[in-house]
Amino acid sequence: MEFPPSELASLAVEPLMTRDFETRPAAVYSRLRARYGPVAPVDLHGVPVWLVLGYREVWEVLRDENVWKKDVQHWRWLNEGKVPSDWPHLPSYQVSHLLVQDDQRRKATRAAVEEAIAPFQDPHAPESFELAKAVSRHADELISFFADGSDSGWVDLGAQFARALPLMAVNRLFGFPVDQGDEVFMDSWRMVDGGPEAAAAVGRLVAATTELAAYKKQHPGDDLTTRLLAVEPALTVEQVGLELYAIIVIMAELVSHAITNSVLEVLAGEAGARAGLMAGPVEELVNRVHIASPPWVNLTFRFPVVDTDLGDFRLAAGDAVVPSIAAAHGDPVFATPGSQEASVSSRAHLAWGAGPHQCPGRGIADMIVTTAVGKLFERCDLELGLPVDQLPWRSSTHVRGLKSCPARFHMRMRPTPVAPPAPEAAAPTPAPEPAPAPEPATPAPAQPERPRSALWRFLASLRRG
Ligand code: HEM
Repeated sequence: MEFPPSELASLAVEPLMTRDFETRPAAVYSRLRARYGPVAPVDLHGVPVWLVLGYREVWEVLRDENVWKKDVQHWRWLNEGKVPSDWPHLPSYQVSHLLVQDDQRRKATRAAVEEAIAPFQDPHAPESFELAKAVSRHADELISFFADGSDSGWVDLGAQFARALPLMAVNRLFGFPVDQGDEVFMDSWRMVDGGPEAAAAVGRLVAATTELAAYKKQHPGDDLTTRLLAVEPALTVEQVGLELYAIIVIMAELVSHAITNSVLEVLAGEAGARAGLMAGPVEELVNRVHIASPPWVNLTFRFPVVDTDLGDFRLAAGDAVVPSIAAAHGDPVFATPGSQEASVSSRAHLAWGAGPHQCPGRGIADMIVTTAVGKLFERCDLELGLPVDQLPWRSSTHVRGLKSCPARFHMRMRPTPVAPPAPEAAAPTPAPEPAPAPEPATPAPAQPERPRSALWRFLASLRRG
């Protein structure tokens, strides 16, 4: 069936970013679905976009790169000058990396990223073994550090654990000569949530990763940055900086929140989760959380290149379209027992995306999240520090995650007190570096007063708090 073209701007769109969306997004998706069907017009900070709610429709958008482009050059509103220059999400669309590229350009970058990342996900490669070992050790360090020798106490599992661990993994994976501190991840939040600080945050992040790429060109190591610089055909230092920037954002947003969302599922989810955690593999729990509570709820924009029927509307070429993973997972077609999709739902969920942009870093993500959740519940009994309906959610279009996750811990075994690791101890397993180069032609990224201690100083201040 064909529909007459729907002028998105003229539809009476309701704002997506409401208090209701922040606290009860599933109810908002259901209401929109009941009113409009699988595709709904919504207002995103004053700009009209289509929100794709249906499982089949999201799948359709993700899989067909010929119709659905990601590069912002296809956005009609932007080309017509209708997007205000201070629109909160604009800064994140003004840098080009794999996540927002199409066609040949995407293919070339994707091949480079896949090649560079491969040994960190290959269970037989030493790189993946070393990374997993470092993540496991860091998880233990963080738990001992927040416990601080006590049998029980309070912890913010967000800042003191779920954010810190992926940041440590980034420091190791990228080969930062000076460990980056929590502000790097906070910049990612500022960018993703949009707002007056977003542009400056993007600038700082891209500067840090580009500086790192330039440094690694002179001082290669056994890290992802060096591998990205070595691929054929070669990427420029600026391109490598942009790909690293995208991965930092992913780590800050998705890996961190996948950890807290899993913890929350055990502490506050359906009764079976805690028992299931004890009985079954952590991987199963994490996979269930990706379905029930995916961290990346609404993906980056797509733009149809021709007028296209989707749901109950005809979308005009160049309209902005947001595929909603969270809404698709709540679609009765996917979620209802007995429906065809439901019978394979654990395999066919969309938390890793689908089609040409499907996540190439899933192995690393799974390793970090399952290590984090496994270690935490192995060493601690935990209770949420707030009633579930008072937990502080981020106000974000794209990710679903807690600002903080207060919890009371009881150590299962008495821990030994831990001081912030000395610079050397905090560093990941040393990677074999080539012979020292003479004088660096490119200076190392700006060093804080006490190298490598910024994150631990931050964690120590939270512990004191
Ligand atoms: C729990 C953690 C993660 C989740 C839920 C996740 C999910 C996703 C999803 C849904 C996409 C597709 C986006 C789209 O179609 O618009 C994607 C793409 C991507 N992911 Fe992940 N991801 C995670 C962790 C990682 C990690 C750890 C890395 C790298 C180390 C990574 C690297 C990437 C890259 C480079 C892309 C872009 C691929 C492309 O556009 O071709 N991801 N991820």
